Amino acid sequence: MTRFNFNGRKTLPSRGQAWSELQEAMSDLRSGDADWRHGRTPLHVYYAGEDVLDVARQAYAMFISENALAPAAFPSLKRMQDDIIDISLSLLGGSDDAGGTMTSGGTESIMLAVRSAHRAFRERRPQARPHLLLPTSAHPAYDKAADLMGLEVVRVPIGVDYRACADILAQHINEDTMMIVASAPSLPFGTIDPIADIGRLALERGVWLHVDACIGGFLAPHVAKFMSGLPRFDLSVPGVRSLSADLHKFGYTAKGASVILYADAEDQEHQYFEYFDWPKGIYRTETLTGTRPGGAVAAAWAVMHYLGEAGYRALAQRVMHIRDRYIEGIDRIPGLHLLGKPDLSVIAFASDRYDIHDVGDAMEARGWYISRLSNPAALHMTVTPGHDQGVDDYLSDLERSIPQSDRPALRSQSRTVVTY
Ligand SMILES: Cc1ncc(COP(=O)(O)O)c(C=O)c1O
Repeated sequence: MTRFNFNGRKTLPSRGQAWSELQEAMSDLRSGDADWRHGRTPLHVYYAGEDVLDVARQAYAMFISENALAPAAFPSLKRMQDDIIDISLSLLGGSDDAGGTMTSGGTESIMLAVRSAHRAFRERRPQARPHLLLPTSAHPAYDKAADLMGLEVVRVPIGVDYRACADILAQHINEDTMMIVASAPSLPFGTIDPIADIGRLALERGVWLHVDACIGGFLAPHVAKFMSGLPRFDLSVPGVRSLSADLHKFGYTAKGASVILYADAEDQEHQYFEYFDWPKGIYRTETLTGTRPGGAVAAAWAVMHYLGEAGYRALAQRVMHIRDRYIEGIDRIPGLHLLGKPDLSVIAFASDRYDIHDVGDAMEARGWYISRLSNPAALHMTVTPGHDQGVDDYLSDLERSIPQSDRPALRSQSRTVVTY
């Protein structure tokens, strides 16, 4: 049997190795990974059960070699992408004028929205130095997009309820503001920003509003079927120009799947890239990447059809029920409190009595993979259907991880938190 050396800089093996050996080696490698199957991981994996995973896996494998860059060669993938966009638009308030594109993930969807907003802005004000106006809670993918496109970013505080605040945003809009972002929900706090208010502001001031529904896009429409009072956030809200929603999160499909949607398909035209002066002819792409995995498209199409509305609703009910169990359990532990009022399944909790990051360390020592916030210091998680296996153990370990004597929470505030 071939021995695998995982130390030092690797070179290509001189001879090929048997799959059985490789599989064993990879299983060994994986032994130190976070345990998402049993609800011990607070983010990164959205596990809806072996059956869903199996559908995604088989569909991915069926189209593993096909390239979604080439609709002429693979009309199957074009058909599937068109279906995925139609379904997404029907779930997320798209009218007959709306349009969209499938992408590789939230970051790419966001970059395309920024590119479209920038090009639309430049048509109106070619000499300006445009900026993006972001609440502090918005995902850093906007800063990444701005960095790549040479744009400025203005970050403004959120309200005491951990939501973006239309009045604060209004104070910072000027003629160079090319885009405002609102989240549904934000990753740190799980709150949906007041998108109707921000949409009104965007219309009044003529600014592009992008809704980041990367987390909530494929969860909220199903939650809204059985829970009243969820804030409106989709393309039907006046003022919303574009919206990103990740299929590889609460769409439960394989990684590499998201959508960027536009309330008006004409806005989508800005996102395309065309190059004409190439010996091979016109090069035209709709997204940032060239070659795109057919497997990611096929898996998304298959999982959406496998689950259907009833399947997604049942999973949404499960998620919200598990979330409530976490919230009740956290509320029962003296000294802990939730940050804000989470609308969906992302929760963050802090303490005025303990160093919450010490509590996180103690949880890690008990084998949990822990997600943290640095400011304010808090522990954090995105609840998924897979967490039903972990909720009771998590809460009892959390209780045991609370220090016996009270200690000031100050040290946590300055601790560097590396999440990614
Ligand atoms: C609100 C939000 N926006 C954007 C992203 C980026 O998505 P991705 O990691 O798929 O690029 C994330 C990822 O967690 C997110 O939570």
